[in-house]
Amino acid sequence: MKVTVRFKEPDICIIVNKEKIVEKEILIPRETIQKRVAELADQISSDYEGKEPILIGILNGVVFFFADLVREIRIPTMIDFIRAASYGSKKTSSGTIRLTKDVEMPVKGKPVILVEDIVDTGLTLTHIVRMLKDKGVESLKICALIDKLERRDMTVSIDYCGFQIEEGFLVGYGLDYDEKYRHLPDICVLK
Ligand code: IMP
Repeated sequence: MKVTVRFKEPDICIIVNKEKIVEKEILIPRETIQKRVAELADQISSDYEGKEPILIGILNGVVFFFADLVREIRIPTMIDFIRAASYGSKKTSSGTIRLTKDVEMPVKGKPVILVEDIVDTGLTLTHIVRMLKDKGVESLKICALIDKLERRDMTVSIDYCGFQIEEGFLVGYGLDYDEKYRHLPDICVLK
């Protein structure tokens, strides 16, 4: 199920960052995130009843979402992480995906749920999905906190989607801009 969230009158905050003033707006407040994460966890718990899926988080942006999701799921799960680099210090993708950390757990013949923070062009997911399928997983589903539509290049089928947005560069709740703002508890739009 996909949910589109739009807030008509977002809170506006100003972050003073050394010389620069960076403006951000809260797009998805923490309470809304927690509620949606619990709904996704419910759905996963009932879909995987009687199974023990391996949840694979794509580092680093996924950390807070992953930790919250795993702890809300009511069935036993196992966890592992993968890391792919595609973004440098800019707001745009370099278009190249480089795997910098592979999964460590054997995934052959196992039900796997790949957990991503935000899907933008879809290149990262496409690359990792192909790699996990090559490892012979029993089944593979995708859970993404945010499905951002504006720059989608690759067709990606998201099985569990938190929020869908049209455009914008988001920070907070693990999402960064140049490694900054990951710590913010709400998801914000960077201006
Ligand atoms: P894709 O390969 O273009 O789909 O990019 C996915 C990755 O790009 C995500 O895992 C994030 O690390 C990063 N990314 C894409 N959009 C945003 C954003 O709005 N804020 C922060 N990171 C983003």
